[in-house]
Amino acid sequence: MAPQAGESMRKKLALGNWKMNGETEANARLLNVLRDNEPISDDAIVGVCVPYLYVGHTRDALRGSCVKWGVQDVSAQSEGAYTGEISARMASDFDVSFALVGHSERRTYHGESDVIVASKVLRCIESNITPVICVGETLVERESGNANTVIGQQLSVALSKLSDDQAQNVVVAYEPVWAIGTGRSASPDQVQATHSFLRQALAARSETLKNVAILYGGSVKATSASELFHQPDVDGGLIGSASLDARQFIDIIDALR
Ligand code: 13P
Repeated sequence: MAPQAGESMRKKLALGNWKMNGETEANARLLNVLRDNEPISDDAIVGVCVPYLYVGHTRDALRGSCVKWGVQDVSAQSEGAYTGEISARMASDFDVSFALVGHSERRTYHGESDVIVASKVLRCIESNITPVICVGETLVERESGNANTVIGQQLSVALSKLSDDQAQNVVVAYEPVWAIGTGRSASPDQVQATHSFLRQALAARSETLKNVAILYGGSVKATSASELFHQPDVDGGLIGSASLDARQFIDIIDALR
C-alpha cells in the first residue's frame, strides 16, 4: 500500500555487527571493498557497527560513501565518573548513525536489564543516534511458549522513556538468542510471525510507530537472506559473522532489493 500523506515509508536496512572482531589492516580491507562496491540502492540503508576503537578509522574510510557506521553499545549515563564507558554524545562526535542497544550478548555477559536498555535508548535519541533495540528470547523461553511475552516486555520497557515522537526514530532488531552465532537461523515463518507480533506491539503503543523498521538477526547468510528479507514484516537484517566477509555481506545487501 502506498504511504498516505504525512506517513513515513518503512526503511530497509542491512547492518553489520562486527562484535569484538577485526584489527586495523583487516578492517581497512573490508571497508574499502564495501566502499568500492557501493552496495546500496536508493531505498536501502547499509551500515557497519564496529568496536569503539575503530570508529574514527571507519569514519575516515567511509566518509563520502553511502555506507554508514555505528557502535555496538553506549553508556546509560550522559557523562561523568564512569570509568571505561563511552557516551552517546562521544559517539555522535564521530558522526555515528547507529548504536546497537540491548544486544543479547550485553544482556547475558554484562547483566543489562530492560531498564538500563531504556536509558541507553534515550541517550541515543538525545544525541541524534538511531538506537537499534535488540530483543530476543532464549530457546527455553521459546519452547515454553513465552517468546512473545519476553520480547514484548523487552520492547515496551526499551521505549518507556521516549515520547511517541521520539520512538518513531528507533529501529528494532529481533534476534532470537538461540539463532545467534549458532548457524541455525529462525525459519522465515517463525521470523514473520514474530515480526508481525512486534509490529502490532509497536502500533498498540502508538499508530505512529507502525512503520518502525524491524530487522532480523541470527545466523543470516547470503543463502538465507533473500527469503528472510521478503517476509512482509521484515525490513532487513542485523548481520554478525557474515558481515566480516565483504563478498557475503554485499550479497546479503543485494538480497534487500
Ligand atoms: P550472527 O549473524 O553471527 O549469528 O550474529 C547475529 C548477531 O548477533 C548480530 O547482532
